Amino acid sequence: SSTKLLIKGGTVVNAHHQEVADVYVEDGIIVAVKPDLKVTDDVKVIDATGKFVMPGGIDPHTHLAMEFMGTETIDDFFSGQAAALAGGTTMHIDFVIPVNGSLIAGLESYEEKAKKSCMDYGFHMAITKFDDSVSRDMEIMVKEKGINSFKFFLAYKGSLMVNDELLLEGLKQCKSLGALAMVHAENGDAVFEGQKRMIQLGITGPEGHALSRPPLLEGEATARAIRLAGFVNTPLYVVHVMSIDAMEEIAKARKSGQRVVGEPVVSGLVLDDSGLWDSDFATASKFVMSPPIRAAGHNKVLQGALSNGVLQLVGTDHCVFNSTQKAFGIDDFRKIPNGVNGIEERMHLVWDTMVESGQISVNDFVRVTSTECARIFNIYPRKGAIITGSDADIIILNPNSSFEINAQSHHSRTDTNVYEGRRGKL
Ligand code: URP
Ligand code: ZN
Ligand code: ZN
Ligand code: ZN
Repeated sequence: SSTKLLIKGGTVVNAHHQEVADVYVEDGIIVAVKPDLKVTDDVKVIDATGKFVMPGGIDPHTHLAMEFMGTETIDDFFSGQAAALAGGTTMHIDFVIPVNGSLIAGLESYEEKAKKSCMDYGFHMAITKFDDSVSRDMEIMVKEKGINSFKFFLAYKGSLMVNDELLLEGLKQCKSLGALAMVHAENGDAVFEGQKRMIQLGITGPEGHALSRPPLLEGEATARAIRLAGFVNTPLYVVHVMSIDAMEEIAKARKSGQRVVGEPVVSGLVLDDSGLWDSDFATASKFVMSPPIRAAGHNKVLQGALSNGVLQLVGTDHCVFNSTQKAFGIDDFRKIPNGVNGIEERMHLVWDTMVESGQISVNDFVRVTSTECARIFNIYPRKGAIITGSDADIIILNPNSSFEINAQSHHSRTDTNVYEGRRGKL
């Protein structure tokens, strides 16, 4: 027997269109979108009158069950996805980390981790070195494994970082495979220098994290990556755009006609660095991520860039450690595992910050949280749209509801929440 569902009377919102209509679903696939559909008695009916019916969120940037900085993120593919679903995100794309330089072994390990999954997911591949074997593995990823996006780290000197020579080789291979290059844009050599400087000055707390890697190092690496991608003539996707400096490089490149995509993350859009300066280590360390959450002002400008289309879609970089793990860096900020939560809060906070304030429309909300991600990563229109034939990844939002975000009630395994006290809608 098949599962039949009718979502009745809501405002169905796609990126380019909205109308009051019913959505009829059979076995997880949208079969019809039309006003006043008549159905038989065996169909489960959900009344969505006065509510928005939208494509489920797609988070383009997460790290579940990732081994990082001497520990492992506390959300795995089950708990992270459960949190995502609770917050209206129905698909995410995670980053496979190679094992001993092998992309194949890395993918095998992530396929194992992902067996706990309770929703749809995709993978990007991180490239942490480059040689003939990595080059061959990249081809296998694209041609046999359906992985078509590769992230290069210009930061994390000594572990994940690649230099310009390797980045260039990687960009060339992306171009020849028709794959999308992604970049973590911070100057890792300069960050290393900045960190030494802070320690020499006796600044060992979480504030040293931000001071050691200022916006100009993000701007420099963003500009460099954009120019190198331009030199190779291949598109570039800049992940976690956290500063005005980086955004302006993306704006300039796009204006000149270069194919560059900028992904802000929720933390950069809605938070500022004030938490990092809290004298309580547990409070301050939960805000440590890279690139750092910036001083007040960057967030507002990034919101504007999302609203005017300079930045295209919103991720989270969900990468969570509990306070015990964060405490590894109690006497040296360089040892605080980098990462903040967001997979559960992203939809709520984009709505609250961008739609409620009138900075984007409800259609744009769908575009930046779902459709654009599906389009860029080749899963549109199976995902990212409420149209006949698409997967029934559907969320219903009541614009008149309200609840408080906090660590007590969230579904992530982490014991803190950087969005404590903010509000969302159900
Ligand atoms: O602090 C962060 N962003 N942790 C996750 C790894 C990365 O650079 O995306
Ligand atoms: Zn339509
Ligand atoms: Zn990164
Ligand atoms: Zn990340």
